[in-house]
Amino acid sequence: MQTPESLAEEHHELFHELRELASEEGETGKAVKELLSVLEPHFEGEEETAMPLLGLLRPLSEGKAVSHPMEVMSLHARFSSEYPRMLKEHVRVKELIGRVRGAAAKGGKRHAEAVMDELELHAKIEEEVLYPAALLVGALAKASVKATAP
Ligand SMILES: [Fe+2]
Ligand SMILES: [Fe+2]
Repeated sequence: MQTPESLAEEHHELFHELRELASEEGETGKAVKELLSVLEPHFEGEEETAMPLLGLLRPLSEGKAVSHPMEVMSLHARFSSEYPRMLKEHVRVKELIGRVRGAAAKGGKRHAEAVMDELELHAKIEEEVLYPAALLVGALAKASVKATAP
């Protein structure tokens, strides 16, 4: 099962920017480090469950059969149970983004503010589109396996 390249790239890009900001001296760097301590395991979780499920969006929407139905079903079960926690982590991430914003505003760090805008939009897209899509993909795969079961 493959994660859509665009999503993997976006995570990679955000991480790259955040690590650079975290390496800076001062309050902004410190606040970004704290943000990263929550974000790192959160991104890993997404990459293990939601993202591979999203790799099935295109083939499923084109009417193709799911090649590893058991794997999809176990990922779906895992992501469904992790979903409430992932949303809670977003709440925490947003609090920490607020702290970075405060420090960045004081220190005149415009770039850090721009990266926070990107990260906030990323989380919003996940909540509104990607997480629900991952759940639907799993549910659809499950239904199609049941329908074709002997
Ligand atoms: Fe993410
Ligand atoms: Fe997320």
